[in-house]
Amino acid sequence: MLKNIANTLITWYIKNKRELPWRNTTDPYKIWLSEIILQQTRVEQGLPYYHRFLKQYPTLKSLAKANDDEVMKLWQGLGYYSRARNLLSTARSIHTDNKGKFPTTWEEIIKLKGIGDYTAAAIASFAFNLKHPVLDGNVYRFITRLIGIETPLKTATTKASVMMVLNEIISNVNDAATFNQALMDFGALQCTPKNPKCAHCPFDSLCIARIENKTGQIPVKGKAISIRERHFNYIIFLTNRNSIYMKKRTANDVWQNLYDFPLIESLKPIALKKIMLDPDFKSWTSKSEITEILSLKPVLHKLSHQNIFVTFHIIKISKFLNSEKSLIFEIEKNIINSFAVPKVIETFLASHYFLNSIKNI
Ligand code: ADE
Repeated sequence: MLKNIANTLITWYIKNKRELPWRNTTDPYKIWLSEIILQQTRVEQGLPYYHRFLKQYPTLKSLAKANDDEVMKLWQGLGYYSRARNLLSTARSIHTDNKGKFPTTWEEIIKLKGIGDYTAAAIASFAFNLKHPVLDGNVYRFITRLIGIETPLKTATTKASVMMVLNEIISNVNDAATFNQALMDFGALQCTPKNPKCAHCPFDSLCIARIENKTGQIPVKGKAISIRERHFNYIIFLTNRNSIYMKKRTANDVWQNLYDFPLIESLKPIALKKIMLDPDFKSWTSKSEITEILSLKPVLHKLSHQNIFVTFHIIKISKFLNSEKSLIFEIEKNIINSFAVPKVIETFLASHYFLNSIKNI
């Protein structure tokens, strides 16, 4: 029966597959790049980034030699920036420690920074045809429904049950790469979270969730994750010298290695009056006069485990900021778009509030 599952799945895939550029290669560098981009990113959103990266860095060697800021800039807008930092650091370590040769076994691939079980299996199977099943959200859904697994998702028990089934199936498959691609597409296109296409499904007579009318309940969701609330109060200091102050984010926190602005963070929303009493704000402005203020409405930026409420306060100052002992620096405003910034700042920089305020300095 398990052998039939693989054959049925591959037959379905040949008819229904998505044509994707990383499916026409066995180059581990290109496959690795595509998989890192596609972690937490939809295919349609990831595609242009994949092409741009390969154009700029066609080989692992060229990426290893890339400039950090340039890579972060190319990643801008994709989010989860640790992916880009790990990508670069892994490219460099393969280049220097492994003479530029991508490791060829699952055991070596999993040791690389930024690569977990799923990505290691994807690279091992797509590049080297090794029999390691991919287990992503789509595959979890398909297999838990097919077998009728009702333990909560994201538990060790569920993972072990699903992996056991997948390992058994893949052990009898010749083309592990096609099998894994088929698994993912089946979950993404056919066995969807809402309104799965059960009426036209090649597994309709086998699928336990379908037979027991439980596709709405399986996979069983676990406990909701707790979401941290943060308030980022950004101060956009504009000077009468056509300049603006920015800051590099170096801390082990969201958006590490991207650029932003002088920031006062708070646990709750706070008014500008209160922000101006903050010791950091007082220190920054100790040598200058404030000539004009525009405070925008907060915008909510959602990350997987955090809700960040971002408020921009545009403040015109005479003279200089006191940026001693801080990572704040002054730049000419017309080069601001060359810095890699988080999405929420990219949107702000393109808004009429910002564009008008820099016009009138
Ligand atoms: N999502 C993650 N990896 C993928 C792949 N190789 N093909 C399609 N979607 C994916």
